[in-house]
Amino acid sequence: GRVLSVASECVPLVKTGGLADVVGALPAALAPLGWEMRVLMPAYRALRARLSGLHEVWEEAELFGGRGVVFQGDLDGVPVMLLDAPHLYDREGGPYSGPAGDWGDNAQRFAALSWVGARMARDGVEGWKADILHAHDWQAGFAPAYLAYGGSGGVGSVITVHNIAFQGWASAGMIEALRLPREAFHPGALEYYGGLSSLKSGLVTADRVTTVSPTYATELLRPAFGMGLEGVIAARGADVSGILNGVDTAVWSPEAEPLPYSVKAMKGKAANRAALCDEFGLTLPEGPLAIVVSRLTDQKGIDLLPAVVPDFIGAGGALLVLGSGDPALEGAMRGLEARFPGKVAVRIGYDEALSHRMFAGADAVLVPSRFEPCGLTQMYGLRYGTVPVVAAVGGLADTVIHASPAALAAGVATGVQFHPTDAIAFGQALRQLCGLYADGRLWAKVQANAMRHPVGWETSAAAYAALYEGLVG
Ligand code: ADP
Ligand code: GLC
Repeated sequence: GRVLSVASECVPLVKTGGLADVVGALPAALAPLGWEMRVLMPAYRALRARLSGLHEVWEEAELFGGRGVVFQGDLDGVPVMLLDAPHLYDREGGPYSGPAGDWGDNAQRFAALSWVGARMARDGVEGWKADILHAHDWQAGFAPAYLAYGGSGGVGSVITVHNIAFQGWASAGMIEALRLPREAFHPGALEYYGGLSSLKSGLVTADRVTTVSPTYATELLRPAFGMGLEGVIAARGADVSGILNGVDTAVWSPEAEPLPYSVKAMKGKAANRAALCDEFGLTLPEGPLAIVVSRLTDQKGIDLLPAVVPDFIGAGGALLVLGSGDPALEGAMRGLEARFPGKVAVRIGYDEALSHRMFAGADAVLVPSRFEPCGLTQMYGLRYGTVPVVAAVGGLADTVIHASPAALAAGVATGVQFHPTDAIAFGQALRQLCGLYADGRLWAKVQANAMRHPVGWETSAAAYAALYEGLVG
């Protein structure tokens, strides 16, 4: 079968978070299962030059204020389709915001992407006709709605929620400009708190709804996690499922690092640890060397670190932080660094190569999220024997086996979970981490369990394939 994947970011072209990793990984994960997936995304500034063999495959003469052309090209052998509409996408800045904040016309920008995706899926491009349109997050939320209201031509639709906190809000007055039917402006369909939400539009019109972990699928039924959309999710009943993300195990592999190691030969990890401390100017700690690699936002629970780090340092631990985001949190991280020289070091920014060195050299990765649809860094931690310490929410709860007495007795623990996401539980989890680390044999066992835990795409790709198969009947 064939799937058109519609998304706003895709590795290696554009990434602001895990969404891009997942969109970029799915085509290769699905191919062996007989599903050919192509990705449609916006041609942000300078993106066309990154592809080879570009040719025009689609044209919209009037696309929300200008011409839109889809170019198909090749990125290292993978076909990618870029929607080129300079009036919407050729701008200095990120995919969603510029120097002065969020772009004011994001509703139109991503309605355009969704519109073209729906049309291309329905009508086919150059003889390539999709069986399924797979929309990701609010940016593609209108795509299933355009199929539902404009004729689907038999194309099935799936929407995946990567993060329900972003809902794609637009005012009610825009409904016709966004090419949606006024008759559908009621609470059972497009209306959302008096306006429109592209995410809700997708949730009510797609044939199936998925999210990126089973636990998040259940959490979404509660107001604290559903963030206004819990009723919409509940109404879809059995059409909603959770399918865990995987990670690219070729890219995230301790055996592929400059100082390689593996579960059978762990010596290289100590060399990585020493090199990492050196790079950051840390004294080699007696206790665990922990890392945080994250967007610095409220979601990620970064604000809890100042409350728990002093005790952790006191117990012999050390901390490295790589991230950027909320200026207040960046400041709080710098504050910790200033307070604990040689024990805490911080890099504000985005640096993929550095993140690899950190996973290779650290003992533990901290993920104290308030909510986490799936999360990828805890899975990198598992791969690298960098024991995850995670809040027991969403995909973090689904991927890490807590070192409970039962799990330790059974010899299956891969990390530490805590609940709720507050400084008391987080502090206790760090004390447990220090205790595990101090017991050399136990620590080696937890590390080995972690490294053997499967985090690739195999199981989840099969789940997506089964979902698509159910839709084409
Ligand atoms: P989210 O998408 O909510 O940010 P995920 O854990 O799903 O969370 O994905 C985050 C991705 O971004 C991971 O691949 C992580 O390694 C990466 N990442 C986040 N911040 C940084 C950073 N400062 N430098 C390098 N990589 C980062
Ligand atoms: C979102 C979520 C994250 C998830 C990612 C990919 O960014 O915050 O938990 O891993 O999407 O699905």
